[in-house]
Amino acid sequence: MSLPQLPPFFYQIFESLPRQGPGCSEATRKVWSLLPLMSPDAKILDVGCGSGTQTRDLAALTTGTITAVDNHQPFLDIVDAWVRKAGVADRVKTVCASMDALPFDKGSFDLIWSEGAIFIVGFEQGLNLWKPLLKKGGCMVVSDADWFEPNPPKELVSWWESEGYLPVSEAEMKERVKRAGLRLVATCRLPENGWWDNYLVPLVARTTELRKTHGKNPGDSALLDSLEHEADMYRKYKRWYGYTFFVMQNV
Ligand SMILES: C[S@@+](CC[C@H](N)C(=O)[O-])C[C@H]1O[C@@H](n2cnc3c(N)ncnc32)[C@H](O)[C@@H]1O
Repeated sequence: MSLPQLPPFFYQIFESLPRQGPGCSEATRKVWSLLPLMSPDAKILDVGCGSGTQTRDLAALTTGTITAVDNHQPFLDIVDAWVRKAGVADRVKTVCASMDALPFDKGSFDLIWSEGAIFIVGFEQGLNLWKPLLKKGGCMVVSDADWFEPNPPKELVSWWESEGYLPVSEAEMKERVKRAGLRLVATCRLPENGWWDNYLVPLVARTTELRKTHGKNPGDSALLDSLEHEADMYRKYKRWYGYTFFVMQNV
């Protein structure tokens, strides 16, 4: 499978942000509370960890071990710096790998966690690719975009299409979970502050700052425009879509 490569300027924008996608610590903690009881030495895989906000939250929720995976080493360097500072190197490690070719044995993990990243490989494809890595009875938690209301406005649909991705309803997402042979334990919508506080507000502050130095480069300027447009779309149409966490079990 060939997954899209992002331009270096994209990483320059995102490396200094608190998060690289919508999410918040309150939601991570709430969704954790929806899981069946985890063993104290649970083996957890965090896929598409970025600079690791949810990795840190997970490390506070478990005494188990966490393997945080991303294909961009500078994000993992940020996670590693935190691991050293927090003194958790015995139970949190990073692995640079692609989510469509994860280098782990079948049945290795009690829990696979992925916030805002499964869209890269595709929701159903990601479930199918990652499920074999779970132990029997193990759980998977992913967050992804879906429609909150039927009949979304044309402008919004066109924008999602231009992003190369079209959300579906939560009901269709649940069908995909079923087709992947996973039991749906619970769903939970990311609250609105999970979009603003650590994602869109810092993102737009960063694009405003970078416009001063990169605004004259047409390629860079187009990327800044498209990220600001993402914030505009959410401001205008947040009633119609959002992120939903899917909590699933490999029964
Ligand atoms: C939208 S960000 C989400 C990051 C983080 N989970 C969060 O919520 O802040 C998606 C992450 O997936 C990573 N990524 C992109 N393509 C990948 C791939 N093929 N394999 C592994 N990680 C990938 C990106 O580097 C980025 O860190």
